[in-house]
Amino acid sequence: MRVTVIGTGYVGTVTGACLAYLGHHVTCVDTDTAKIEKLRMGESPIYEPGLEELLRMAAERGGIDFACDCDEAVRASDVIFIAVGTPPLPSGESNLAYLEAAARAIGAAMDGARFRVVVNKSTVPVGSGNLVGTLVREGVEEAHPELAGSVQFGVASNPEFLREGSAIHDSLYPDRIVLGAEDQRTLEVLRGLYGALEEQKFPDPSFAPRPDSFVRVPVVATTLTSAEMIKYSANAFLAMKIGFANEISNICDRVGADVTEVMTGIGLDSRIGTKFLNAGIGWGGSCFGKDVSSLMHTASEYGYQARLLEASLAVNRQQRQIVIQKLQEKMFILKGSTVALLGLAFKANTDDLRDAPSLQIAEKLIQMGARVRAYDPIAMNACREQHPELRILYCNDAQSAVEHADALVLVTEWPEFGDLDLADLAGRMNRAILVDGRNFFSPAKARAAGFDYSGIGRATSRSAQTAASLGQP
Ligand SMILES: NC(=O)c1ccc[n+]([C@@H]2O[C@H](COP(=O)([O-])OP(=O)(O)OC[C@H]3O[C@@H](n4cnc5c(N)ncnc54)[C@H](O)[C@@H]3O)[C@@H](O)[C@H]2O)c1
Repeated sequence: MRVTVIGTGYVGTVTGACLAYLGHHVTCVDTDTAKIEKLRMGESPIYEPGLEELLRMAAERGGIDFACDCDEAVRASDVIFIAVGTPPLPSGESNLAYLEAAARAIGAAMDGARFRVVVNKSTVPVGSGNLVGTLVREGVEEAHPELAGSVQFGVASNPEFLREGSAIHDSLYPDRIVLGAEDQRTLEVLRGLYGALEEQKFPDPSFAPRPDSFVRVPVVATTLTSAEMIKYSANAFLAMKIGFANEISNICDRVGADVTEVMTGIGLDSRIGTKFLNAGIGWGGSCFGKDVSSLMHTASEYGYQARLLEASLAVNRQQRQIVIQKLQEKMFILKGSTVALLGLAFKANTDDLRDAPSLQIAEKLIQMGARVRAYDPIAMNACREQHPELRILYCNDAQSAVEHADALVLVTEWPEFGDLDLADLAGRMNRAILVDGRNFFSPAKARAAGFDYSGIGRATSRSAQTAASLGQP
């Protein structure tokens, strides 16, 4: 099929590359000319493992090109995806300005030559599918009033569940495909588009191998409204699950239990599951906060107070303070001290800093008079450019970041930090205090390396004793 993807961010670029890899011809459109220039040169505008390679393979298998204007591509397309940002407004509502502009531009570009499906991949509040339909129609009427009766299109919602850092794997081998539409014709076009993905009829790329026994993707066909609710409910649940682990970790810290043991113990219950139970410094990223707030806002428009969602946000807000509290417990005075941060990205394997806990931690430390040094393998340039207000000393590696520091905070769980020589790091510091914001290191190993270690919800003495009695390193 001929496909247009509007928006070449984290979702749009991956969607475009994967659809072209499945054999479709895709045009990716963005109003940001710098991004389009990069893509035309074969470079990804974002850091996502495997993406540049997939773009190259996509060009060979289906075909992919890039444009700053959607007119020509929309006219040639059967399916048009909207994958623009829907960032939060101060009220918690989603800012739909980009979505509205994209929908109008699609309408203005349409003619009566074929039936087209406009698909919302952006995360949008309930009812936005109808809004997109209206805006596309208005776009047609404004640009070509004479065509208003002859332009035929359907609107669908196809929420995205990819995780940054493993976006290609998640897009080629998703847990499910959700297709929300109000009519059979629209649904059938999308079933056709995703046929090869549903039946897994494509060769798996070497850098994203197909998981064993993965033969079919379940398709959940729903109404537009249900599809929109599925996306919000999924993110609200995941945010709540992490929030639950964080809440329990705070109780563990007080009663002398180790939250990692507790979560293993409950996660093995198949009704609960082991994923998303890692306690830490609070979730971040572009989606959870904005999606939970947006769902609360929708609920309030219907006169409903979503108390569980409110609590989820409140627990996360509080968790963001935990690094500062732990540093104060160890150091008392932060003014004049030097704190090294390992990691800045909101999670590993991405350069995304949106709502990253690191930003709040750095801001608070600087405000309290501490000096902040940081090292992140990928996100330092983005941090420098996007947050010039943060007076962070960026370092070339973990070793130089900890030089003469009074404390070290592990902020992002980059796998390469697992190879660090902890004794060497401790030896370079003024005071070897380690706050492990992701429960990434083994407490016993960190202590053996000379660190005064605190994790999140890992009551120290018990953890050390348990590890020793079980003979763990
Ligand atoms: N990032 C994720 O992990 C993720 C996962 C699932 C869903 N989502 C949702 O997907 C949507 C996109 O998220 P993202 O992270 O890719 O955003 P992003 O900010 O990385 O990318 C959005 C892109 O859209 C472009 N754009 C804006 N208006 C445009 C227009 N009128 N025409 C063409 N291009 C336009 C911007 O220039 C930008 O490049 C959001 O609604 C988000 O909530 C994101």
